[in-house]
Amino acid sequence: MALPQAFLQELKARCNIEDIISQHVQLKRAGSNLVGCCPFHSERTPSFTVFTGRENFYCFGCGAGGDVITFVMKMQNVDYITAVTYLADRVGLKVPEDNFFRQEKKVDRNRFFEMNKCAAKFFHNALMAPENREAYEYITGRGLTPLTLRRFGIGYADDSQDSLKGYLMSQGYSKEEIREGFLAGVSQKTGKLFDMFRNRIIFPIFDLSGNVIAFGGRIIGNGEPKYLNSSDTPVFKKSRNLYALERAKNNPESTLILCEGYMDVVALHQAGFTNAVATLGTAITPDQARIMSRYASTVYISYDSDNAGQRAAKKAIDLLTQVGINVKVIRVEDAKDPDEYIKKFGKSSFEKLLAKSNGHIDYTLSNIEAKYSMAIPEEKLRYVQECCDMLAKIYSSVEREIYIQKICEKSGVDPSVIRNEVEKKQKKAKHSAEKERIKTDIQREIGWGDRIMADSSKNLATAKKEENLLGILLMRAEYLKDERLSAILCEKIFQCEFTKRVYTRLIETADTLPFDLSLLGEYFDPDEMGRIMKFVMNRERLENNSIEVALELARALEKIASETVEDGDGSDDSFLKSLEKIKQSKK
Ligand code: CTP
Ligand code: MN
Repeated sequence: MALPQAFLQELKARCNIEDIISQHVQLKRAGSNLVGCCPFHSERTPSFTVFTGRENFYCFGCGAGGDVITFVMKMQNVDYITAVTYLADRVGLKVPEDNFFRQEKKVDRNRFFEMNKCAAKFFHNALMAPENREAYEYITGRGLTPLTLRRFGIGYADDSQDSLKGYLMSQGYSKEEIREGFLAGVSQKTGKLFDMFRNRIIFPIFDLSGNVIAFGGRIIGNGEPKYLNSSDTPVFKKSRNLYALERAKNNPESTLILCEGYMDVVALHQAGFTNAVATLGTAITPDQARIMSRYASTVYISYDSDNAGQRAAKKAIDLLTQVGINVKVIRVEDAKDPDEYIKKFGKSSFEKLLAKSNGHIDYTLSNIEAKYSMAIPEEKLRYVQECCDMLAKIYSSVEREIYIQKICEKSGVDPSVIRNEVEKKQKKAKHSAEKERIKTDIQREIGWGDRIMADSSKNLATAKKEENLLGILLMRAEYLKDERLSAILCEKIFQCEFTKRVYTRLIETADTLPFDLSLLGEYFDPDEMGRIMKFVMNRERLENNSIEVALELARALEKIASETVEDGDGSDDSFLKSLEKIKQSKK
């Protein structure tokens, strides 16, 4: 059951798409539309377009697209109903309650949140229980105060295989739910359910609304693995969340401190650095960098002082600068990580480290410098080469020039030589980026690695026809009422799973013209919505979207469908056959 169309229209009328999007994207007017840099992929020249008249958006760079609901879903990483509820709350609308769909979906997510909250409380109580004194002493022995333990909801999972599982089942959660939430695993030998976290200090992970979405568990003392983290679950994606961001996001200075570990974050917060966050047991991802850019203009990287930490810092610098963040790097000296540093030297020393942290370019330059001796010609050459590699990545020419001067002073090499070298490298980088882009375009064209239309590669030409037909129909839904066309149109003429689904939904809404994209949002995920937008965009570029073109496409598809059935082949090899034909004709 769908949400009533009248409600969706009212919602969209009240939620101006421009207002919602401009909270996240700096939009500039371009003709009758608005453009800006896409929040869903990294770019410096705007290809993200908001069509204010039609109330939807499309990114010509990455293909993200949809209506205001899709935008919220993608931006906040939430499901359809949560996005609708968020928008409705903003404008004081009530989501129709007696809605089968709402009940079905929303309860699902809430079930997980509630189960996780239940588990978090269970773990926290266990940490405070007298019989688990050892665990409590371990964590307080590491300097965390009772207040911090409470604030972060830190807990303890005991040694047993079924403490948590038993408790959750007594609270009415099914084995399946517990397993799906990554709180228990199934033994391959016995088929029995066992607690996932055992003998570990537990760090609950929250989303930005304060729901418990996952857990990280550190073994007490030594043991393997040192940390166990929730895998992705229906309510958790580790590449899209950051530990403690829900606390750190509101800092007035618009800065964040990025650490490697849970303990670092908790220790920093306890010491008053309440803008600390960490990734969740993995290296930083492009998504995380983009998410951070919404809450911070400057990020201080505060990774471990060992080699692994410094290598990771390099990657973080690249990803964070790509999304336009001003990056500084803290060097933790005479300590393994920020947690240990604060324990050893106190918070005012960390304050000083923050103050004297270098911009990422100085940081990288001094790292390069430390490796080479200027007295040895070959090393000097390598020094200059590496510096040029780095300079080539700097976007601002003014900034580049400043560092060119510095490198000249250090190495005694003429600035024009360095400038030349940098330009060469930039050209090369641009060239290979372009090649990469063409490669992915081609792959997309031939339907390779296409998640949404995985079966399109079976018969590309047909898939293209289906896309074109849908593009026209989506734009001109009134064609659906044309008798000649409706005599041909049916599900069977669509070979791809996805286009078939789009067509089915389109037909179902045919009597509620004019057609509105928001009628599809409930049935397609945001990536699929982007693809649907693409069908329309591709057609819109072309002049002729007349009924005759639609008819021609439909007739062709009808013919293909009937031939496919007659041949009795699933057209699996029809692509190969046509390749064969082409080869023959070339001979
Ligand atoms: N990590 C992980 N799995 C491991 C080791 C580490 O997921 N086997 C992740 C955890 O998120 C951890 C972070 O990497 O917080 C940093 O690891 P490490 O520096 O080894 O741990 P610390 O956070 O410093 O923890 P502690 O101080 O308790 O040793
Ligand atoms: Mn540590």
